[in-house]
Amino acid sequence: MDAFVIHGGRRLRGRLRINGSKNAALPMMAAALMTDEPVIMRDVPDLADIRNMAKLLRSLGTVVEETGDQQRKMQVTDPTQSLAHYDIVRTMRASICVLGPALAKRGQVKVSMPGGCSIGDRPVDLHLRGLQELGAKIHLDEGYIVAQAPSSGRLKGAKIFLGGPFGSTVLGTDNVMCAAALAEGTTVIESAACEPEVVAVANMLNAMGAKVHGAGTPRITIEGVPSMHGAEVTVIPDRIEAGTYILAGAITNGDVVIDNCPIDALGAAIDRLIQVGIEIEVLDETDPMRATIRVASARRLQPIQVTTQPHPGFPTDLQAQIMALLCLCDGNSIITEKIYPDRFLHVAELLRMGANLTRTGSSVLITGVRELIGAPVMASDLRASAGLVLAGLAARGTTTVNRVYHLDRGYEKMELSLRQLGADIERVDQDAV
Ligand code: EPZ
Repeated sequence: MDAFVIHGGRRLRGRLRINGSKNAALPMMAAALMTDEPVIMRDVPDLADIRNMAKLLRSLGTVVEETGDQQRKMQVTDPTQSLAHYDIVRTMRASICVLGPALAKRGQVKVSMPGGCSIGDRPVDLHLRGLQELGAKIHLDEGYIVAQAPSSGRLKGAKIFLGGPFGSTVLGTDNVMCAAALAEGTTVIESAACEPEVVAVANMLNAMGAKVHGAGTPRITIEGVPSMHGAEVTVIPDRIEAGTYILAGAITNGDVVIDNCPIDALGAAIDRLIQVGIEIEVLDETDPMRATIRVASARRLQPIQVTTQPHPGFPTDLQAQIMALLCLCDGNSIITEKIYPDRFLHVAELLRMGANLTRTGSSVLITGVRELIGAPVMASDLRASAGLVLAGLAARGTTTVNRVYHLDRGYEKMELSLRQLGADIERVDQDAV
């Protein structure tokens, strides 16, 4: 197992390009199941989760090829394969996004029920309810979701409400939207997730011949079509990767230029960072999803309140990273987590680095400290690990972040990106440290 060894205290300087979005690319790859024709995707990040999705699609009768740098070609050659096996699903919860596409195209599918996860329970009841309202018969069989379309082979359009106790559901919206794209008649999804990744999936479906309107708003209307065709699409830049590197510049008092930065999808995060006192200068926003910005930070930072919310609110996937920054602000900040109330695995590890944090339920009071101190730390989820890397970059002394495989799920060669900006970070064999 790999670890990162970080010698903190270096101001990051330089230029970096943001990769394609993991959380857009995963459901987009699954949407390739909805046609027999080839689908080509560009700007696909090279990540463990993407390789897992490719493996899952292969097991569902799809040829997945790397046809260029960050380019994948997918084509279904054996639509009789309809089993998403536990062995793959357990490695990646996002496997659930094959459910809607495969059900719509093949009329039946059996997908392992994803288990619990380190950031919370993460049920899939809304996904299943949405598909049932489209006429699917669904039952659980020995840990598998078995879904079947009506005897005509096609799902039926319906009015569906997708709101849950913590807002809408991103992958649930993708699943229902994909399934409705090939259904008979019109579907209206109310309380749909508004995340940019949902818009990316809707745009891809439309490029494949679907008729999806309103993605990015809480009401999505889908006029079902009988079949879809191949397409060539480009994945949007990763707003969470961008936010993480903006925060890396900020926490090290750095001066960093970021290209291919989706500022249009980062409004809440940029607003909070400006409140903290980070300078964010937009150098080019010809395309606000692919802007160039400069992040600089030199003065003392102000404390703030952050509440994670569904988009366009502050993203839960940047909560651990901004917590690292707030540890070094002057005064008391509060973070309230409204998506995953238990997503605080990084708190205990930040305490080991000298942070002053008090958790009460789904909120954490952060009392700024003068400095963080390097320590060996470990996290058991992707974004918590990113938060610890940021803390390590700013800390005095050496920080070893163990279990880097979590980071490899969502950040392409993070150590190389940070080194490019002047960080002293090295990937080593954990057992050798
Ligand atoms: C997506 O997960 C992302 N994953 C997550 O990113 C992200 O944290 C999350 O959206 C929220 O933004 C991918 O896109 C692959 P949800 P998803 O369904 O779609 C509850 C990362 O680090 N809920 O929108 O699975 C759920 O428990 C990952 O990259 C139900 O109650 O999340 C949560 O509280 C981690 N019933 C809330 O809704 C359901 O059926 C939002 O979850 C589904 C969800």
